[in-house]
Amino acid sequence: MKGLVLAMNTRTTVWVWAGLGALGFGCGEAKEPPAAEPTELIGLRTTDQQALHGYDQVDAEKGVYQLPVARAIEVVAADPQLLASLVKLPDLEEMTPIARGEYHFNNTYACAGCHLLDGKQKLGPHLNGRFGGPPSVLESGESVAFDEAYFNESVLNSRAKMVKGFPPIMPVFEGRISTADLDDLRAFLKTTKPAS
Ligand code: HEC
Repeated sequence: MKGLVLAMNTRTTVWVWAGLGALGFGCGEAKEPPAAEPTELIGLRTTDQQALHGYDQVDAEKGVYQLPVARAIEVVAADPQLLASLVKLPDLEEMTPIARGEYHFNNTYACAGCHLLDGKQKLGPHLNGRFGGPPSVLESGESVAFDEAYFNESVLNSRAKMVKGFPPIMPVFEGRISTADLDDLRAFLKTTKPAS
């Protein structure tokens, strides 16, 4: 075995000779590997929340955390069994805005934890087929068109307009979401259809 290639979400390929060499993975005629940039991230799947405490969980269902490569190497060195749990993170830059929006909806911001896309209510109202659909009815009794401005405000400042019949549990995303991510979320949600 000549080393292990880990694909990053930055489109870079990193050789983790050094870390794995210490574990006894052959590294005989190793050339000097390019050093991993501190910003390069990799996914690690584990149910051991303690080990990866403090890192972003990007897929709650599968227990995937994203962490810097250097840290991943340390974690794997401490528990070699985790080597098999290293996963390729989706390359967000390579994805279409719609696919990225779906990823953000399900993973990055976990909107899906509260909003369904099949016309049913969960903790919050369903969000499929809403753009250009019937208006939202607010606690104030007012009706408001579900357009881009309303969507953005609902996400950034979720308390500004409360949908009738729901508790004020939606997080305020102002300062926690980029304009680009918001654009992607809209692009994705616009592709969803009303439940028939
Ligand atoms: C913890 C649960 C929760 C999460 C997570 C959450 N929401 Fe909400 N959301 C709600 C609830 C409850 C409401 C209705 C009450 C209100 O208006 O705040 C709501 C309302 C909305 C509305 C207005 C819906 C309508 O019918 O007019 C939009 C749009 C929305 N959320 C989008 C999102 C998006 C996008 C995300 C992820 C970035 C998200 N929400 C994450 C609970 C949540």
